[in-house]
Amino acid sequence: MAFMFRRALVTGGAGFIGSHLVAALVGQGCDVTVLDNLASGHQTNLDTVKDKITFIKGDIKDERVLNRIIKGCEVVFHLAAVVSVTQTVKDPVGSALVNELGAIRVLDAARKNGVRRVVLSSSSAVYGDAPQLPKSESMIPAPMSPYAVQKLTNEYYAELYHRLYGLEAVCLRYFNVYGPHQDPSSPYSGVISIFMLKAINGEAPIIYGDGGQTRDFVFVKDVVQANLLAAAHEAAPGRVFNVGTSSSVSVNGLWEMIARLAQCRLPAKHEAPRPGDIVHSLASIQRAKELLGFQPSVTFEEGLRLTFAWYRQSK
Ligand code: UD1
Repeated sequence: MAFMFRRALVTGGAGFIGSHLVAALVGQGCDVTVLDNLASGHQTNLDTVKDKITFIKGDIKDERVLNRIIKGCEVVFHLAAVVSVTQTVKDPVGSALVNELGAIRVLDAARKNGVRRVVLSSSSAVYGDAPQLPKSESMIPAPMSPYAVQKLTNEYYAELYHRLYGLEAVCLRYFNVYGPHQDPSSPYSGVISIFMLKAINGEAPIIYGDGGQTRDFVFVKDVVQANLLAAAHEAAPGRVFNVGTSSSVSVNGLWEMIARLAQCRLPAKHEAPRPGDIVHSLASIQRAKELLGFQPSVTFEEGLRLTFAWYRQSK
C-alpha cells in the first residue's frame, strides 16, 4: 500500500531540482512549505506556484525555524545543500555545517515532530572514480571530495535514524541531472547548462579532454518522479537508490546534439582534462526499478529539446 501524504516540507525548494518537485507536489494537491535561504536557489523558480505554497526564506541550520515549520508535515524532502563540489573543496568546514549538520538537524527535527518520512538528496559522487560500471548501490563508496563525504555521511545518518528511531528515511543518489532552472553561471555548473548557453550565444564551448568521457544524464522530471516514489513506497525506508537512466552519452556527442538543436556550426575547443574528472559514469537503476517501480520517462533527445527551449525562452 502506498503511503498517501497531504503536507510536505521541501528544503531547497527554490533550487533547480527542488522547484520542479514543489510544482509536482502542488499539482497533486499537496500542501507544500518551502524552506530556502536563496543562497543558490531563486524565488523566480517558484513563480508558477507562488500563490499555492508557503515560502519561508530561512536556513536549515536554524533549529527554531525548522521545528516550527516542520510541524504537521508528513514528509520532508531534503534538497537544501551547498551544491558546488568546488565550493566544498574551498570551504570544507562551512559546507559541512550546511551539508552535514544541516541534514542532521532536518532528520532530528523530523524525528521530534512526528514526521513519518524524509527523502534525502544524495549524489553519485559517493562512488568516486571506481572503474566498475554500472555503479550499483552495493558497491563500496569511495568519496573523493568534501561534498561526496558530506552526502555519504547523510546516508549513514539516514540509515541510523531509520534503525534507531524508526524514521522512514530514504536516500536518492542522483547522477547528472539536467533540465530547466539549472543555473549555468559558474564554470562548475552542469555541462548541459553551460553548453546550452554557449550554443544560444553562438560561442564555442570548451570540452575538457578528448570528449570521450561519458555521463548518465537524467532529466529533472524523472528525478522528481523518483522523489515521489521514494516518499510513497513501502519498500523505500532505510534504503539508498540510484537515480539515473542506465544509459550514457559522451561529452562530444552531447555537444553535437546541442549544436544541432541550436543550428550552431561551431566546433568545440578542447582543453586539458579537468583534474579529478572521472572518465565514465553510468547508473544501475535496477534497485529503483524493482523496489519503487521507477522508470525514466523522458528520452535524452526529448529532455534536451525541452531544456533548450527553456534556455532560449529565458535568455
Ligand atoms: C557531476 C556532478 C558533481 C558530482 C559528480 C560525481 C553536476 C553538475 N556535477 O560532476 O556534483 O560530484 O558528478 O561524479 O552534475 N565538461 C566539459 N566542458 C564544460 C563543463 C564540463 O567538457 O564546460 C565535462 C567535464 O569535464 C565532465 C563532463 O563534462 O567530464 C560533465 O561535467 P559536469 O557537468 O561538471 O559533471 P560531473 O563532472 O560529472
